[in-house]
Amino acid sequence: MDSSILSKAYQKPASNILADVCALAAKMDDVIDLSVGDPNFTTPQPIIEAAFAKTKQGMTHYTAAEGLPELRQAICNFYQEKYQLNYDQSQVLVTVGAEHALFVALEAILDPGDEVIIPEPCFSPYIDQVKIANGTPVIVDGKPEDGFKIDAAEIAKKVTPKTKAIIINTPNNPSGNVMTAEEAKALADLAIKDDLLIFSDEIYSDYVMADKKFTPIAKFAPDNVVIVSGMSKSFAMTGWRIGYLIGPDWLITAANTVNDSVTFTAPTMSQEAALYGLQHHDELVAPIVGAFQKRLNYLQQELPKIDWLDVSPVEGSIYVFADIRATGLGSVDFADQLLKKAGILVVPGLAFGKCGEGFVRIAATQPLDKLQEAVEKMKKLTW
Ligand SMILES: Cc1ncc(COP(=O)(O)O)c(C=O)c1O
Repeated sequence: MDSSILSKAYQKPASNILADVCALAAKMDDVIDLSVGDPNFTTPQPIIEAAFAKTKQGMTHYTAAEGLPELRQAICNFYQEKYQLNYDQSQVLVTVGAEHALFVALEAILDPGDEVIIPEPCFSPYIDQVKIANGTPVIVDGKPEDGFKIDAAEIAKKVTPKTKAIIINTPNNPSGNVMTAEEAKALADLAIKDDLLIFSDEIYSDYVMADKKFTPIAKFAPDNVVIVSGMSKSFAMTGWRIGYLIGPDWLITAANTVNDSVTFTAPTMSQEAALYGLQHHDELVAPIVGAFQKRLNYLQQELPKIDWLDVSPVEGSIYVFADIRATGLGSVDFADQLLKKAGILVVPGLAFGKCGEGFVRIAATQPLDKLQEAVEKMKKLTW
């Protein structure tokens, strides 16, 4: 037997823009890895201890399929306290990461041919998830001249009778934009007018620069918005794999039915960890977010001093999306050469969509001294 037995969709290896650069990086010593979106902190000790204590007490079984009731309630409480949004436990599904949350939700809503509008540059799994659910991704290209803002007017132009949903991400990976309340309201109005769902990926909601504010779009269209979020970024908990979906209870019920055949429940000890984390949100998140703000401020200040590189103001997230068009190189070539010449690994903008060409994503997921070392190395480069 050979690979021809695979589904036609998987017969050819998937194209992975980063794979070659990463393969090369893996063979090199002393690479400064600014590619991964994984905060470099270990999960706060109190979270680890709380999870292990519960595990030792016997929390080693399945939980309810939708998640631990206490955790679902803690998620509701968090949105109530932080954003004055009222949700009932029946509107929350705990999942194995935010990515899984979006996957089961898309699977639950899409029929073949249904369209989902996705502003690019974006977290690339959105596109594949829509396709896996037999939907059609409809791309809205962001514009470098306005910092790749998510623009309701541009999205409106792509709405057809087949459109079911829009996927947005704010604070944004990779652009670092945070939608203003006015921008969010304009998109919410469109969703209400055209009866569309908005999947709002808010995984970076705590990562907002000091002079900016994150306003959840659900404030303006509570019945149309499905929140996708999780513990990975705010709590440096990528490995625990806990995310969640918050939305209309009929969608949560359907998404849970999908998930019955996928993972059934999220890991119990990870749910306990998430529960402790959310109950102590502010004190645990502040030092992590504070460190990232310092790093992003440093990068914003120093990177523009390099004459072949430009950076728009970072509003949030843990990334800088740097403009490298002045080098005359494409983003994949640039990333390859930056690795070979300076031992620095970044993600080509093309990995986030065609409109990301000419840009690279620099993740601030290294300590300040490593970022300083990277910047000093970049300052010496010419193209
Ligand atoms: C925008 C965005 N959404 C979701 C995820 C994945 O989150 P999780 O680890 O909870 O699956 C990432 C990870 O980088 C991301 O950047």
